[in-house]
Amino acid sequence: MMHLLPLLCLFTSIAVVRAGTKLWSGSFNAYAAVTDFDKWSWSTPVGEYQWYIHGAQPTSHYLSLGSSFKNPAIKSESKGLKLTIDSTATWNSNMERTELIPQTTANLGTANLFYHFSLMQNGVNKPNSAGEHQIFFFESHFTELKYGVGPNTTNLQWMVTGQPKWSTPWTAGTWFNFAYDINFTAKTVGLWTSTGSSPLKKVVNNVAASTSTNSEDWHVGVLSLLNAPAPEDYYISGVYIENGPITTTIS
Ligand SMILES: *[C@@H]1O[C@H](CO)[C@@H](O)[C@H](O)[C@H]1NC(C)=O
Ligand SMILES: *[C@@H]1O[C@H](CO)[C@@H](O)[C@H](O)[C@H]1NC(C)=O
Repeated sequence: MMHLLPLLCLFTSIAVVRAGTKLWSGSFNAYAAVTDFDKWSWSTPVGEYQWYIHGAQPTSHYLSLGSSFKNPAIKSESKGLKLTIDSTATWNSNMERTELIPQTTANLGTANLFYHFSLMQNGVNKPNSAGEHQIFFFESHFTELKYGVGPNTTNLQWMVTGQPKWSTPWTAGTWFNFAYDINFTAKTVGLWTSTGSSPLKKVVNNVAASTSTNSEDWHVGVLSLLNAPAPEDYYISGVYIENGPITTTIS
């Protein structure tokens, strides 16, 4: 019996690696082809995402799947998403919108949750800084990324209810990893970020915000108020929501 003890201790120390429990996965591995997004409807809520906020062209005009569209540092995913807006992408307005919404029965608005995603633009069909873009936003805008707005129109900015809290030059070809750190109990939100394969670091401590979600209003995608004809391409991977403690590794 005695000699088993050191082994037991070893396993115990392995088990304490910090990671939360995944409440919802937005991995694009779940999609064999881009037409799979069309299998979702309000009456047939299948797949990881609701897909209704988009223009009138076929889904393949707005979404593409590919192994080169993901952050290569993410080993658990074999593909990422290329998401496009253009003048055909108007939805219920003259705003250009291509947005996916989590499809889940999980409560995405309780306790302390981490909303993870990685985002890239590669300089081709790049985002136009002449107008406001809302990226990975909630309906109430208590946390979101924005581009094309003050105080710095060419920076990718993190905002809490319209107030800029953090920003970075949106370097082409760099994968930016993010996690919104939302405490729905305390009604606060903070930001973790990194680039490439680097682990997430907290860059903004939690601040007060009207945190709330009906668990189907996190917009994974882009809304542009600029009704411009030129297409814009965004690359997305590593989308998931977990409870704490936060997983900081990207791989
Ligand atoms: C925006 O940020 C970039 C990069 O940090 C900087 O070079 C530029 O001067 C800033 N522009 C304004 C208007 O502050
Ligand atoms: C979230 O806020 C509640 C209420 O203030 C607090 O008790 C809890 O420790 C917070 N959770 C985390 C992980 O900070």
